[in-house]
Formats: sequence, C-alpha cells, structure tokens
Amino acid sequence: MIKVEREKLKPIFSKPIIKKRVNELANDINIKFANKNPIFIGVLNGSFIFLSDLLRRLEIDCEVDFIKVASYNGILSTGKIKTNDEIIRNLENRHLIIVEDIIDTGRTIQYLLKFFKRMNPSSITIMTLLHKPKSLKIKLNIDYIGFEISPDFVVGYGLDYNQKFRNLDSIYYLRELAK
Ligand code: IMP
Ligand code: MG
Repeated sequence: MIKVEREKLKPIFSKPIIKKRVNELANDINIKFANKNPIFIGVLNGSFIFLSDLLRRLEIDCEVDFIKVASYNGILSTGKIKTNDEIIRNLENRHLIIVEDIIDTGRTIQYLLKFFKRMNPSSITIMTLLHKPKSLKIKLNIDYIGFEISPDFVVGYGLDYNQKFRNLDSIYYLRELAK
C-alpha cells in the first residue's frame, strides 16, 4: 500500500490564487464566447472542481456535459485510452470547450480531439487548469492554460494521487511518493 501523509504536500497554488486565475479565464470566455452558446465538456474525474468554479463565473449562455476518460495501465508507453463515448449528444456545428485538470504528456487530449472532431463541431477549444510543458510528448496548441508547472506530481483541487486529495481546495506538489 502506498501511503502519503499530509506533511508531504508542498503548497503551490493557494485558494485565492486559483480563484483569481479562474476569474481571469472566465472573463476571457465571457468575451470570446458571447452569443456562441458553447458546450463545456469536462474531462472526468479531475476537472470537476475547476469546471464548476469556472461555470459560476460565466455570464453567457452555455451548456455542460462530461466525458469520462480512463487510461489503461502503462499509458505513458502505450497511449491507450478508453472513454464512455455513448454519453455525448449531437455536437454538430457547436462550439466545444474541452476542460481538463492537467495536460501532462498530451495523449489524453490528443485522443479527445480526434474523438470530438469526428462529430463535426464548429470549433474545439482546449482549456486546462494546469500544464506541464516539459512533459508534453506531442505537438499541441492549448488555447487556455491556468498555470504552467514543472513535471512534478501535483494534487488537490480535483487532482488526485491514487484517488485521494481531490477535495483539497489548494494545489500541492507531492514532496515524495512514500512507500
Ligand atoms: P496526459 O494524457 O499525459 O496529458 O495526462 C492526462 C492525465 O494524467 C491527467 O488528466 C491527469 O488525470 C493525470 N495526471 C498527469 N499529471 C498529473 C499530476 O501531476 N497529478 C495528478 N494527475 C495527473
Ligand atoms: Mg484527468
């Protein structure tokens, strides 16, 4: 059993810092997507807190849906990803905003882009709360990034380590992964 004690968490983004950045992102969306009635697609599980905070700062008409993406073991070597694709409604001629908690290697978002392009939306926008530019393994244009961070593992504000720590309202580095 891998166990991580709370003292191994090193704060990087506090609740007020995150709030300020989420407000800035929401302001940009309010301007860019006014009268476009975009559909936000949250990538579960990690994006649920970020997306719920973001949405409450929006003043435009918009819709929300979610897609659950799971990577098989060894995603880094195989890049294999599976999803619950049956949930998705008609997206033809709609403006999609895919919302991620974090873009690391970029493989999940690459898969999702291919997946959603097949549905003939008018546009696809990528928004992520966190991005690790040094970990990116593909060529990718990310439209909105909350914060760029180093490749170290982070938790909190929706992000987990072995399903734990999603409930923390700040974002932390894990100092080490203790056994
Ligand atoms: P990617 O496909 O490599 O870009 O990464 C996709 C997923 O890996 C993210 O949506 C997260 O679920 C997970 N992930 C990557 N880095 C971290 C991290 O530092 N903390 C928690 N989850 C992470
Ligand atoms: Mg995720």
